[in-house]
Amino acid sequence: MEIVICKTKEEASRKAADLVAALLKKKPDAVLGLATGSTPVEMYKALIADVAAGKVSFKSVKSWNLDEYYGLEPTHEQSYRHFMDANLFDHVDVDKANTHVLDGLAADWRKEVADYEAAIAAAGGIDLQVLGIGSDGHIAFNEPGSSLASRTRLVSLTPQTIADNARFFEKSEDVPRQALSMGVGSIMEARRVVLLAFGAGKAAAVKGAIEGGVSQFCTASALQMHPDCWFFCDEAAASRLELKDYYAWRAGEALGAEIGD
Ligand code: F6R
Repeated sequence: MEIVICKTKEEASRKAADLVAALLKKKPDAVLGLATGSTPVEMYKALIADVAAGKVSFKSVKSWNLDEYYGLEPTHEQSYRHFMDANLFDHVDVDKANTHVLDGLAADWRKEVADYEAAIAAAGGIDLQVLGIGSDGHIAFNEPGSSLASRTRLVSLTPQTIADNARFFEKSEDVPRQALSMGVGSIMEARRVVLLAFGAGKAAAVKGAIEGGVSQFCTASALQMHPDCWFFCDEAAASRLELKDYYAWRAGEALGAEIGD
């Protein structure tokens, strides 16, 4: 695990984008796993700027998103398909036919998730998975109590996640109670994982994920078992880490080797 700690979320997002851009330069037809939520927005902006500047291209990229609210149509303003179009896909040279988001209206959700996993496998698996982290330590919508071996499936959101996400909806009753979500086991198959965490509200989750025991109570802690996992945090999110100075120093060297700094 490498933990990059930056003064601001903008700086951390730029560095995370550099890691993604380094992959796209090396492998233009990379398979990306993408996340929604407020956290990756700055990183997507940095990548949009890179495409505009001709530094990277998404022309041959294929992507699969982590999750989608169950019951929301793709055109709904708060659907994750809509989020991805608005925050990334509409602004880069990606072929939208190569971008995949789970169908929140799938009548047969079991078939939907099985097909989704099969399509990822047929594409050769995910090269780089982008993640945020919930204030309860979830990755994708793998809430506390999710098996660390879980696969893509229908899940129920906790009251805390519903409350956290209510800020995007008119009223908290409008937040869907269920979602289709990749499992922890599915995420662990990505060849590289890049998790972003910003703000004091994520400090306890980051502490649990990095310095707590591996536990289904904080599903992000499974990433301790991943051979190539990077955390990009601002100082507030990293504030509760005991060994933060050591992590920052070590990650600086590792990141330099990856992005040629
Ligand atoms: C989003 C996702 C979630 C979010 C998490 C943090 O696709 O899978 O796990 O990453 O809930 O959300 P934000 O970034 O809004 O704090």
